[in-house]
Amino acid sequence: MSPLSPDARHAMFTGARTANTFDDTPVTDAELTRIWELARWAPTAANSQPLRVLFVRAGEGRERLVKHMDEGNRAKTGSAPAVAVLAADTRFHEHIPAVLPYKPQLKDTFAGNDALRSGTASFNATLQAGYFILAVRAEGLAAGPMGGFDAAGMDAEFFPDGRFHSILVVNIGHPGKDAWRPRLPRLAHDDVVSWA
Ligand SMILES: Cc1cc2nc3c(=O)[nH]c(=O)nc-3n(C[C@H](O)[C@H](O)[C@H](O)COP(=O)(O)O)c2cc1C
Repeated sequence: MSPLSPDARHAMFTGARTANTFDDTPVTDAELTRIWELARWAPTAANSQPLRVLFVRAGEGRERLVKHMDEGNRAKTGSAPAVAVLAADTRFHEHIPAVLPYKPQLKDTFAGNDALRSGTASFNATLQAGYFILAVRAEGLAAGPMGGFDAAGMDAEFFPDGRFHSILVVNIGHPGKDAWRPRLPRLAHDDVVSWA
């Protein structure tokens, strides 16, 4: 293993920003596919992989989505070249025998324990949402993650059978004019890190 180059660290972390506007450059289905091809390799508990991704194209699908966004998030979500709705699969455990073949009985443990199942879905889908944002950046695109939307309305619109619960909406594209808000301060090292 070797450290990422300074340019890669800049693109992924130190220089990457949350985009609030996008230019007209399209985002292709191939780029969106490559984003998931990267993100899917990052780790989850018991390899549970509860995140589900819905890419919403411009047009009718986008109109259905935008009406569930908070007012301040509507314009940028309507104009982004691509948008992903990230959701947690509440029945992720049905895949356990396939994704954890050395311990298939864990499926039944999750089936019999609602708190464990929903906590695992929520925590690990949220982790995967973070990986997804970094994968967008690795593909050379800017992400605009948003938690400001009516999740119940979004679920009824796109996931009416109740199985998936939306957790984050992510605009994806090339940054446009005035895409960034001023960079906000990060906590100081000593406010976060301690040693034992
Ligand atoms: C989970 C999550 C939810 C967010 N929700 C919203 C939102 O609803 N609307 C919005 O404009 N920005 C939202 N943001 C963007 C954050 O405010 C932004 O990423 C943060 O201030 C860092 O900005 P920077 O990457 O430009 O430094 C959200 C970010 C995350 C990770």
